[in-house]
Amino acid sequence: MIQEEPHPSIPDQPPSSPPAYIVIFGATGDLTRRKLIPALHSLSCSGALSPDTFVLGVGRRALDSAAFRQSLYAGIESYARFRPDTRLCDLWSRFESRVDYLTATPGDAESFERLAERIANPDLPTQGNVLFYLATPPEGVYDIVHSLAQCGLLQQDHGSWRRVIIEKPFGRDLASAQELNHALQQLLSEDQVYRIDHYLGKETVQNILSFRFANTVFEPLWNRDFVDHVQITVAESIGIASRGSYFDRSGILRDIVQNHLLQLVALTGLEPPSSVNAKALRDEKVKVFDAIRALTAQDVVLGQYEGYTSETGVADDSQTPTYAALRLHIDNWRWQDVPFFIRTGKSLRAKETEITLRFKEVPHQLFPDATPAPNHLSLRIQPDEGIRLQFETKIPGSSMRTRPVDMSFDYSDGFGKHAMADAYERLLIDALHGDAALFIRDDEIEACWKILDPLLRTGLGAPVHSYPRSSWGPRQASGLFGESDRLWLRKCLPQNEEE
Ligand code: BG6
Repeated sequence: MIQEEPHPSIPDQPPSSPPAYIVIFGATGDLTRRKLIPALHSLSCSGALSPDTFVLGVGRRALDSAAFRQSLYAGIESYARFRPDTRLCDLWSRFESRVDYLTATPGDAESFERLAERIANPDLPTQGNVLFYLATPPEGVYDIVHSLAQCGLLQQDHGSWRRVIIEKPFGRDLASAQELNHALQQLLSEDQVYRIDHYLGKETVQNILSFRFANTVFEPLWNRDFVDHVQITVAESIGIASRGSYFDRSGILRDIVQNHLLQLVALTGLEPPSSVNAKALRDEKVKVFDAIRALTAQDVVLGQYEGYTSETGVADDSQTPTYAALRLHIDNWRWQDVPFFIRTGKSLRAKETEITLRFKEVPHQLFPDATPAPNHLSLRIQPDEGIRLQFETKIPGSSMRTRPVDMSFDYSDGFGKHAMADAYERLLIDALHGDAALFIRDDEIEACWKILDPLLRTGLGAPVHSYPRSSWGPRQASGLFGESDRLWLRKCLPQNEEE
């Protein structure tokens, strides 16, 4: 007998979202095809999305709705958690009937009037709610929001709402982020703005909070009395693929450090918020960012993978870093003298994101052969999502020899293989429900840029070292540990360069 594959489901599924029109700018782009539409389709299949949700793709390119839907189907087939096959989900035909395409160009009033007419269609059951998703490069954000405002499309009447999701990067440095924040404030209120960082939509990232604050046993150790240092790695094995012209202008500091990595630092470092509502959580994150000491050249190692300048769209003499390792000091009561070593890079040995706390040595060693400072706690964000705690144990036998062993938790064992929704599923649903806790606030984005701004502006004199593809980055990164016995770690173990 053929065994039915278990039906993937969203554990603890939120109630069906309010009816809404979702208008996606940048509709013919990669993000829409690979992430947004597959996420919406999966939400529709799981019942989390109201059947009264309509999707309108907007782009400059002339395209009819049928061709648009067809291009989306391929994306759903390849990337959605719920694929449109009859066994797992047979809703594609109903879903696609609610998807349309419109050609419009910011600044072209006529095309935005057509958009306004679509949205105002009284036959739609969307109750006037509109979620605008700007899946566009940062340069285009202001013009789109301005055109929406000119047509009155950001006006919230009769209990309906209008919200705007803005993709990262938000600006390209402190000054441009401040300018964009200021310009947007003239057109809409902060509670209509949802700055997205998809890392916050990942289950394992949200679990940093649950792990710390839904348990009593870890938080008392989570401070300078017990923690020697913290390491955070966001490693990627892929290079820059076809994104050369974007990446060469951004570099790894804007692409990953300013957003994903700093968010992981904040969640690992923050004080317990009084609740997980948007204000309380974001207030605590901002306090962490504000407490990060100004970087010096000694805190920074930059790298570029070999062959990067031959990639399409990259300047021959480019000095854009594809790797960064930073030593951060959080100057507050909890973390004084506990450095956070963070690193990220393209074309590294493996794709893995991990947060590791190394705990201090015991105050007095009873066992001469014991591993020094054996206790590590590792939160594995992706892949092989899970948590591992390493501790020293007696080796059975007549002597008192010891060695480190693991206690570990694996998400797929605990919750099943399909339990984890894609990050965009969670974030789209939250935005539809008006919950901004997992989105970035205006002051928060500026606080993040402030940390990196001097490095972005002057380079702080840090050279860009070359590193081989499929390595762990420039060997100079170990220099951040100075004379200490600290090492870069993977799965709680010293990283093996030869592996
Ligand atoms: C994006 C970056 O924000 O995150 C990409 O622009 C990067 O360069 C991607 O590859 C990584 O996301 P994930 O979820 O695959 O770790």
